[in-house]
Amino acid sequence: MNRVISLFIIIAFIAVTPLYVSAQGDAGCKTDKCHSNMGTMKFIHGPVGAGICTICHAPVEGKKHQFTFTAEKEELCFNCHDSKRDMMLEDFLHTPVADGNCVGCHDPHQSDHRFTLKGDAADLCYTCHKIEDFNKEFVHGPVGAGDCNVCHNPHASANEMQLLSPKKELCFNCHKEQADMMNKRHVHPPVAEDCTECHNPHSNTDEFLLGASGEKLCYECHDNIAAYVGAKYQHDPVENGKCQDCHNVHASENPMMFLKPQEALCFSCHSEMG
Ligand code: HEC
Ligand code: HEC
Ligand code: HEC
Ligand code: HEC
Ligand code: HEC
Ligand code: HEC
Ligand code: HEC
Ligand code: HEC
Ligand code: HEC
Ligand code: HEC
Repeated sequence: MNRVISLFIIIAFIAVTPLYVSAQGDAGCKTDKCHSNMGTMKFIHGPVGAGICTICHAPVEGKKHQFTFTAEKEELCFNCHDSKRDMMLEDFLHTPVADGNCVGCHDPHQSDHRFTLKGDAADLCYTCHKIEDFNKEFVHGPVGAGDCNVCHNPHASANEMQLLSPKKELCFNCHKEQADMMNKRHVHPPVAEDCTECHNPHSNTDEFLLGASGEKLCYECHDNIAAYVGAKYQHDPVENGKCQDCHNVHASENPMMFLKPQEALCFSCHSEMG
């Protein structure tokens, strides 16, 4: 019964809407020989499904089979999707959106992917972005799952890189168990600054999405400590690159992010002294 009613509404809508009346004039666009594949894919754009080609392609007067667009670039889309106009007002626009290249991602006619996109999930992104940055040895959970949109809005947002949350909060949306490290008394300065100073949010060559492992990571920023490498007298754990036997890399209640207050730290290995 409901289907009958909605069918009736659609027919009534078509009958009273001038747009769709003119549609009947487009019937010649799709024939067995011409544009025959229009409307054959899984997802068909509204006006294409209704067969109204001329709402976007206006025939050039006096010329045979030449067309102009009824509006340029994104304006063509906003003619009908007026509510989407708001994306242009955000602080950070994805470059193809800023360029009005909506069809860089959405096929204007049809596609096998939802929202008539040109690819599913991350595959869409890889049509323009090099996959090499996203499939290194260690891949971040959501990236491996193709979920770029859990962190980025594909169109625009109030945050840089079109992130869904400010960069400082983003990681804690999922890593809730890590959030309390920011409340510890001694937070490693780069951790307070930006998690991506050490972790690549997408993929990386070393475990935990790092660009170097063990003490080599520390040496990338701490030249003064790296200078002891090869020194004649080295403390055993330092010589073996076990920085994290004494320092927590993120934060701790103790100065220098020590795992324990300093004496307890020394005595934890030099128990005979304790
Ligand atoms: C919503 C607006 C819109 C509608 C409706 C529309 N088109 Fe298009 N069409 C476009 C845009 C935009 C392009 C340019 C695509 C690009 O640059 O990638 C295009 C390109 C084309 C092209 C050339 C490139 C290609 O994809 O082959 C043909 C042919 C075409 N359209 C035919 C049609 C026919 C036939 C219909 C009706 C069944 C139709 N279009 C309906 C927007 C539309
Ligand atoms: C003539 C009016 C018209 C124009 C022009 C138009 N659209 Fe649409 N579009 C529709 C209708 C009608 C629907 C189907 C109704 C709906 O789902 O909102 C639709 C649906 C969509 C959808 C799927 C929305 C959803 O929620 O499933 C996307 C994506 C879309 N259009 C993108 C575009 C883009 C990109 C352009 C410009 C190239 C464009 N549209 C131009 C009328 C139009
Ligand atoms: C970088 C690729 C990309 C570009 C460029 C792009 N879109 Fe989208 N768009 C998407 C993706 C991905 C989705 C699906 C979002 C989701 O999963 O909720 C989408 C969804 C949509 C939808 C339907 C869902 C909704 O949010 O209502 C509309 C309408 C739409 N886009 C219009 C546009 C218009 C208009 C432009 C140009 C100003 C544009 N898009 C440019 C990727 C893009
Ligand atoms: C049609 C091509 C195209 C597609 C598809 C595309 N992008 Fe982009 N994207 C660009 C261009 C061009 C730039 C700017 C140049 C650059 O930094 O590479 C860009 C830049 C970005 C940036 C950096 C933003 C900034 O402010 O510099 C992010 C983040 C991004 N894209 C994410 C995505 C995601 C996520 C997807 C998939 C949903 C995607 N892109 C799909 C073309 C595209
Ligand atoms: C866990 C959240 C998260 C996910 C998931 C994610 N990104 Fe990002 N992305 C970020 C952050 C954070 C930045 C900013 C990095 C920086 O400033 O160094 C970024 C930056 C970018 C940039 C611009 C700078 C660069 O590294 O090239 C592009 C392009 C990009 N992302 C594309 C993607 C694509 C494509 C996907 C899906 C395959 C994706 N992102 C998934 C968080 C994420
Ligand atoms: C949308 C949810 C989400 C967001 C946002 C997110 N992550 Fe993750 N992260 C995950 C998932 C899922 C895993 C995989 C968990 C597992 O394998 O146990 C993961 C794993 C990790 C790992 C461990 C990797 C490993 O090899 O065990 C690190 C490090 C990490 N994320 C850092 C970050 C950083 C830094 C950010 C912010 C830029 C971030 N995450 C944002 C979901 C997220
Ligand atoms: C100075 C470099 C550095 C910075 C900055 C950094 N991390 Fe880490 N992170 C590491 C190292 C090294 C590991 C390896 C695990 C270990 O040895 O404890 C790690 C491990 C992780 C893990 C997975 C293992 C675990 O402890 O559960 C997560 C999740 C994580 N970091 C999240 C974050 C978040 C969120 C931020 C930003 C608030 C951040 N990291 C900032 C170096 C860093
Ligand atoms: C991305 C750069 C970066 C990396 C990688 C890094 N640090 Fe740091 N670290 C800093 C900065 C910046 C400071 C503050 C200025 C300073 O003391 O040099 C700091 C300070 C410290 C301090 C002194 C903290 C205090 O309270 O005064 C310790 C201890 C420390 N780092 C240990 C480590 C260890 C151990 C590693 C490797 C697991 C590491 N860092 C990796 C940037 C980094
Ligand atoms: C046996 C415990 C221990 C180990 C292992 C250790 N540290 Fe430390 N670290 C300390 C102590 C104690 C201090 C405080 C020294 C002071 O107060 O002058 C310190 C201070 C620091 C500082 C801040 C002061 C400075 O000189 O910049 C940095 C950075 C640092 N360590 C990095 C490292 C790195 C990198 C490693 C691994 C190669 C490492 N530590 C291994 C105990 C340790
Ligand atoms: C992670 C374990 C560990 C911690 C924590 C530790 N040490 Fe050591 N330390 C060693 C080992 C292993 C040796 C070499 C074997 C030995 O002589 O007992 C060593 C040797 C020493 C030596 C003798 C060096 C030599 O060449 O004979 C001194 C002095 C020393 N540690 C001081 C400290 C002080 C001070 C602290 C606290 C800041 C500390 N250690 C924390 C493991 C540790």
